[in-house]
Amino acid sequence: MATIDEVYRASLADPEGYWRSAAEAVDWETAPRTILDASAAPFYRWFPDGELNTAFNCLDRHVAAGRGDQVALVYDSPVTGTIRRYTYAELTDETARLAGALAGLGVGRGDRVLLYMPMVPEAVIGMLACARLGAVHSVVFGGFAPRELAIRIDDATPTVVLTASCGIEGQRVIPYKPLLDEALRLAEHEPRTVVVLQRAQLTAALQAGRDRDWHDLVAAAEPAGCVPVAATDPLYILYTSGTTGRPKGVVRDNGGHAVALQWSMANVYGARPGDVFWAASDVGWVVGHSYIVYAPLLAGCTTILYEGKPVGTPDAGAFWRVIATHGVRILFTAPTAFRAIRKEDPQGRRLADYDLSCFETLFLAGERTDPDTLRFAQDLLGVPVIDHWWQTETGWPIAANCMGLGPLPVKPGSPTRAVPGYDVRVLRENGDQAEPGETGAIVIRLPLPPGALPTLWNDDERYLSSYLEAFPGHYLTGDGGYLDDDGYLFVMGRTDDVINVAGHRLSTGAMEEVLATHPDVAECAVFGVPDELRGEVPLGLVVLKDGVRRPDQEIVDEVIALVRSQIGAVAVFRDARVVPRLPKTRSGKILRGMMRAIVAGDEVVVPSTIEDPAIIDELRRQLR
Ligand code: COA
Ligand code: AMP
Repeated sequence: MATIDEVYRASLADPEGYWRSAAEAVDWETAPRTILDASAAPFYRWFPDGELNTAFNCLDRHVAAGRGDQVALVYDSPVTGTIRRYTYAELTDETARLAGALAGLGVGRGDRVLLYMPMVPEAVIGMLACARLGAVHSVVFGGFAPRELAIRIDDATPTVVLTASCGIEGQRVIPYKPLLDEALRLAEHEPRTVVVLQRAQLTAALQAGRDRDWHDLVAAAEPAGCVPVAATDPLYILYTSGTTGRPKGVVRDNGGHAVALQWSMANVYGARPGDVFWAASDVGWVVGHSYIVYAPLLAGCTTILYEGKPVGTPDAGAFWRVIATHGVRILFTAPTAFRAIRKEDPQGRRLADYDLSCFETLFLAGERTDPDTLRFAQDLLGVPVIDHWWQTETGWPIAANCMGLGPLPVKPGSPTRAVPGYDVRVLRENGDQAEPGETGAIVIRLPLPPGALPTLWNDDERYLSSYLEAFPGHYLTGDGGYLDDDGYLFVMGRTDDVINVAGHRLSTGAMEEVLATHPDVAECAVFGVPDELRGEVPLGLVVLKDGVRRPDQEIVDEVIALVRSQIGAVAVFRDARVVPRLPKTRSGKILRGMMRAIVAGDEVVVPSTIEDPAIIDELRRQLR
């Protein structure tokens, strides 16, 4: 077997040859003859003349190959006391039937369908049904407020919206339908139909003419077949936080995505067909798209859909229960989940109640795995703990310890080395390559491998300006860090206005836009500060307009409520302060990085362009 070094070198020396052979693992309606089209560089397209259907590759082909009776999806919901299993045959049938219902509502190839759903099997079936029809889904995470949802509805212009009456957060039932109704009131675009899954916990009011009951609709539908689409056709749009209030619509194609995800299951995760694979995330995030839904099903694994939390549903042994009950071999979650478990059960006593002999590997991503959390997980579980780094844009890991290609020694704080297909470099501001150990911008030399975003939805211009213009010929990841002498990558954090709160990606720029709408706020800044549980949480500073005489606390409470109502609870915006002024450069740029360093207790680098250095001591007193 080739070593990881040999595989890595081959993937970069001859990308077309490498991915041509990886593409053989996918069933094509028309096999691609051209592997990479670079004629419109820096826009690259993989497998441009290939045709396939992603849902067929996730479902039907496994049934045809004899996996029909294997469990494809386990729905484990401690919040409703439910465990439900779907075999590949059952999941195929349910998907075909919902696809038929959607087709009956006029959804066809290329049409968009937006999903605002909790973690229920119907969300997975909804995504796969779209894929079956060649329609483009856009899933919006349930923790986002109506305004955020409205922005996404207007950008994706869906024909149909799929939703449920409620989500369940721990002990709380969260009505989703009123949030969607409010979003539709705010949005300019009007979807033709809203399909509502009525859950036992809450019945939503339906609007005559527009809203349809999910079960009634599906009961009356005929199953639909798979529609072959071009490999370059979009499979989904997933909005992610950028540096402004306008989210970026990351586009995922069908062909490159299927090839890359299936490759990653075997080579990065070391998963074999039939393995039980659990990504403890949410279908609203990229981890959910890639590793709850598509990749495990492409690879013929059993995937777990868990509607619960690591703690409180009912206790810090929840993850161990799920692993033992369903025979999970590989778990993927965010470090914050392990910090939550450690907080409640520092000795890991709950583990003794379960037999985890099936469990082999833990993968962590979404934020950097700090060495403390790494050691806690290693000591507790006694299995390899693999930090790996990626982002919504790439859809699969950029750097990882590839378990299927021969694991390398772990260096705490590093997601190991670049994954085959990714030519990762660290650059200085002037574009020169940084020395080993020298921090700079982490970039990927073009072309990006299959599966990574080909562009942003309806916005080629923003794709270029956000990712490709900073260092021509390279994709800008937005993360900073360094490579060491052994080629191990250390990802130290974002270099833009994006923060990661409990593994959830959020824009501080979007929060600032909300604060600025408060009538008493003259100026504001939001930046991430370290948090023991969530890794990072936002802190807002506001400068009041002259003449405002109201108590600071009143204004603070109002701006906190404003962010919650405009962006959502998921922002965890719980701390704001009123300050007399903000630190700026002489040209007026607010020095957020400096404020962050002051609060974090890090070394404060004072730029020579600072307007008034006296503000540093002032801020130290105010922010302590
Ligand atoms: N729908 C509605 N509201 C949601 C939601 C959803 N899908 N998801 C989160 N929220 C709400 C929460 O209820 C909470 O509301 P509150 O302010 O009223 O308490 C708020 O958003 C913040 O959520 P979160 O930061 O997740 O806090 P939590 O206390 O519910 O859970 C953790 C904390 C660490 C246990 C949890 O974040 C976690 O398990 N994270 C790691 C796993 C993960 O999902 N990673 C994603 C990428 S891999
Ligand atoms: P998202 O697009 O939500 O997946 O968030 C992507 C961002 O999360 C990256 O750009 C990083 O800033 C951060 N991130 C994800 N995984 C890691 C990791 N393993 N180490 C460091 N940062 C990470």
